[in-house]
Amino acid sequence: MIEKRGTPANSAAAKPAARDYYRCVVCRQLRLARQATLWQCAECGQAYPVLDGIPALYLEERVGGHDRELRDRLYNGLLGRHYQQLMPLLTLPVRPWRLAWKGWVVFGAVVAMLVAAGGLLVLLAFNGFAKPNGLHALAAAGLVVAGAMATRHPYFLYLLVLAVPVRVATLLRPYHPVLTFNAIHAELIASLRAKRGLRILDTCSGTGDSLLRHGWTSLDASFVALDLSSTMLRRARDRNAKAKLPIEFVLANCADLPFDSDSFDVVLSYGGFNGFTDPGSALREMTRVVRPGGLLVIYDEQLDEGASWVERVYFRRVCSPHDTIDRFPVSAVPDSLDLVRVHQVYRYYYLCVARKRDALDTSGRTVDAGAHAETWSRQALRVA
Ligand SMILES: C[S@@+](CC[C@H](N)C(=O)[O-])C[C@H]1O[C@@H](n2cnc3c(N)ncnc32)[C@H](O)[C@@H]1O
Ligand SMILES: [Zn+2]
Repeated sequence: MIEKRGTPANSAAAKPAARDYYRCVVCRQLRLARQATLWQCAECGQAYPVLDGIPALYLEERVGGHDRELRDRLYNGLLGRHYQQLMPLLTLPVRPWRLAWKGWVVFGAVVAMLVAAGGLLVLLAFNGFAKPNGLHALAAAGLVVAGAMATRHPYFLYLLVLAVPVRVATLLRPYHPVLTFNAIHAELIASLRAKRGLRILDTCSGTGDSLLRHGWTSLDASFVALDLSSTMLRRARDRNAKAKLPIEFVLANCADLPFDSDSFDVVLSYGGFNGFTDPGSALREMTRVVRPGGLLVIYDEQLDEGASWVERVYFRRVCSPHDTIDRFPVSAVPDSLDLVRVHQVYRYYYLCVARKRDALDTSGRTVDAGAHAETWSRQALRVA
């Protein structure tokens, strides 16, 4: 859903930016000269390629091993190419029926085809492999493809097994958050509604879903959508071609942001944070680029304490198999963040909202992580 627009910032009608906020990740100077195929630092000479119209403002050698693996294996691969279709499938058992019914139809069709293919081959085996026909060949090919998919993307296999039990568990004991995802967003958006010319950075923007869905684009704001995956970000850019929302698209690394400090009123991160190689340094970087008084909003996986056994297996195997941490890293919160609140908005997801405080503010801070206030330790990491 595309919402009401603010003032175009990177279109022909754009107002010139009050100040340049892009900085060179090598020498940290705000001296990037922009050309159609290359951005280049006028200070140190570092060149940044422009890929299909999107500048790549990061150094490959500084990309963490896990970030690179996820980018190359998932987001620039099958998941990235079909993100809009595949991602909703992964959350199938926990989505409301009205949003998920089409997914259940696909799920049912896949299960029926696999059972039919397996059944055909078992019957053939009972007959001593006499008279195999084209249908048997098709069934065998289907099972080979399914096997290859399950080996490369085992979370789909777990989903096949767990979808129905998790759905039943969710229906038997629905999760009721203290504050819902939508209520928190409504409050955040309302608190910013009167402001003019906001600057919002959406990190881990992917195909742009989260930026477009949660009300941010109804504000009088210009946006930077940032991601490490060109496959994902191109899709976001192409989706915006018609809507022409005031969004600049940038390939960059969250752990090494190409922006001046205090550049944004709001920094967002939906769905990528727990997979960072080093979430602590990404959190410091994201905090650095928010202006004092500005907001940081992070959403990702975290399991509610009261989850049942089957929900725990689903969380590990389907929701968060690619994560390095399994909850918001409370102890990595920089001192400059205040009013940090971690809300368990769904049984499997947190929403952290924090405000950056003024450097001169020496009063006490609030960090409220609810039931998840345990110290973040490296032991929580499943991939170092
Ligand atoms: C699960 S997707 C979420 C996309 C989008 N926010 C949404 O909710 O639909 C996570 C995204 O984070 C991006 N990402 C992962 N590590 C990153 C990093 N170090 N810097 C920038 N983006 C990163 C991935 O490329 C991917 O597009
Ligand atoms: Zn430079």
